[in-house]
Amino acid sequence: MTKDGKFEAIGVVGCGLMGSGIAQACATAGYPTQVAEVSEERLKPGLESIRKSLEKFQSKGQISGEQAAAIQGRLRPTTRLEDLAGCDLVIEAIVENLAAKRELFARLDGRLRPEAVFASNTSSLPITEIMTATRRPERFVGLHFFNPVALMPLVEVVRTVATDAGVYEQVVAFAASLGKTPVRTGDRSGFIVNRLLIPYLLDAVRALEEGAGSMEDIDRAMKLGCGYPMGPFTLLDFVGLDTTYYAAEIMYNEFRERRFAPPPLLKRMVLAGWHGRKAGRGFYDYRQPGPPRPVALG
Ligand code: 3HC
Repeated sequence: MTKDGKFEAIGVVGCGLMGSGIAQACATAGYPTQVAEVSEERLKPGLESIRKSLEKFQSKGQISGEQAAAIQGRLRPTTRLEDLAGCDLVIEAIVENLAAKRELFARLDGRLRPEAVFASNTSSLPITEIMTATRRPERFVGLHFFNPVALMPLVEVVRTVATDAGVYEQVVAFAASLGKTPVRTGDRSGFIVNRLLIPYLLDAVRALEEGAGSMEDIDRAMKLGCGYPMGPFTLLDFVGLDTTYYAAEIMYNEFRERRFAPPPLLKRMVLAGWHGRKAGRGFYDYRQPGPPRPVALG
C-alpha cells in the first residue's frame, strides 16, 4: 500500500466468468494481480478467456500487442492462497455460496496482513454475514462487478455498518482507477442493480407464462421499445438462469416479497440444467451454429 493509502498489489480469488474479468480489469489498470484458483484445470479456462478478450481489443486497435503482453505479464496465476500474502486488496469471486465464502475469508484472514482490505463480488449474499468470518470487519466491503466485466463500466461499492469510512473511500477510488464508474450502496440484498433487475427478469418469465407475448416478441419489445441492449430472455441466458434463480431466492428470503419469488418455470428450467448460454440451452438454444432459436417450453 502506498503512503497515501492507494492499493499496490491486488489478489483475485476465483478465475471463473467474473473472477477472470476482474483480474483482467486490475491488470489492465496496471496492478500486479495474483489470481488464485483451486486447481490448474480451473485456472486454465479463465486465463484463456482473458487472452481471448485482450485479443479482441487488440484486433480492434484498442490496445497494442505490447500492451496486451504487459497486461498478461501482470497476472500471477496461483493455486496457493499463501501467494496472496503480500496483497493490499483481495477480491473474492468464487461460487455464490455463503459457507464457501466464509471459509475462504477465514483462511485468508490468517494469511494476510491486518491492514489488507477484503472485498466480495457477491451479487446478493449479505456482505455482513461473509464479513463476520474474519477479524477485520472495518476493512471488509462488497465490490460488485457486471458481466462482461471487460465492457461493463459499473462497479457497486458496498459498505456495511462496520466498514471504516476511510477504507470505503479507498475502495471507491480503487474502482475508479480501473476506469469504472463506482456507485455507493449499502448492504441490502441485491444492492441497487439486482434489486431492480431481478424482479424485471422474473416478471418477463411471468409475462411469458401468462401469454403477454412470445419470448422473441417480449425480447424485441424491451430492446426496441426501451432501448435495452438485450431483451430479458437473452439477458437471462447471458447472466445464467441458475445465477438469477439463486439471487432471487436469496432476495426473496431477505425481503419476503412476491416480486423476488422465482416463478416455477424458471425453477424447472434450472432443475433441468437449462442454465442459459453457458449450458448451450436456456430460453434459447445455442447448440447449433447460426442465430439462437427459442426453445419450445412444454
Ligand atoms: N472482451 C472483449 N470484447 C468483448 C467481450 C469481452 N469480454 N465480450 C464481448 N466483446 C465484444 C464482442 O466480441 C463484440 O465485438 P465485435 O463488435 O467486434 O463483434 C462487441 O464486444 C460487442 O458485442 P456484441 O456484438 O455481442 O453486442 P452488443 O453490442 O450487444 O454488446 C454487451 C454486448 C456489452 C454485452 C451488451 O449487449 C450489453 O450491455 N448487454 C447487457 C449486459 C448486462 O446487462 N450485463 C449485466 C448483467 S447483470 C450482472 O452481471 C450482475 C450479476 O450479479 C447477475
